[in-house]
Amino acid sequence: MIKTLLRCLVLVAVPALCAPAIAAEPAAPHPGEKVYREVCQACHMANAKGAEGAGRITALAGNSNLAYPEYPISIVTGGKGAMPWFRGQLSDQQIADVIGYVRTHFGNKYKGKVTAAMVVENGAPVQLRDER
Ligand code: HEC
Repeated sequence: MIKTLLRCLVLVAVPALCAPAIAAEPAAPHPGEKVYREVCQACHMANAKGAEGAGRITALAGNSNLAYPEYPISIVTGGKGAMPWFRGQLSDQQIADVIGYVRTHFGNKYKGKVTAAMVVENGAPVQLRDER
């Protein structure tokens, strides 16, 4: 009887002991994910595949133009065509984070960290938005 009780206690206690260890390991979200969702996703879509049609939006998924950070830095800071620039709206750190995010997600596996210093170095200067 005691033995059975003890066995039960062990069975109950073990998962209870393990649970906090499992729960304490959440997948830390990438710092650029929030910026992507709040700013870029509206145009580039949740899957980063962009959109076809009258206003074509380039896919960021599986995009070899992201291989080196300089190109996306120049686009995100300076804008291009229908894409507005974000220097002045987002901090240099947020721009670095979101570029780091798209370079390592959506089928892109490019190495190398993107830093705020790289955004300062390679980015377009802050421009005023033309308020119309
Ligand atoms: C208002 C819609 C819009 C938003 C918001 C937007 N983009 Fe774009 N993006 C575009 C369009 C349109 C293009 C294509 C521009 C062209 O080539 O003329 C583009 C192109 C790009 C390119 C160049 C892709 C290539 O292969 O040439 C990158 C990189 C990019 N966007 C990243 C971002 C990131 C990161 C964000 C969020 C900070 C963002 N975009 C937000 C519309 C948008």
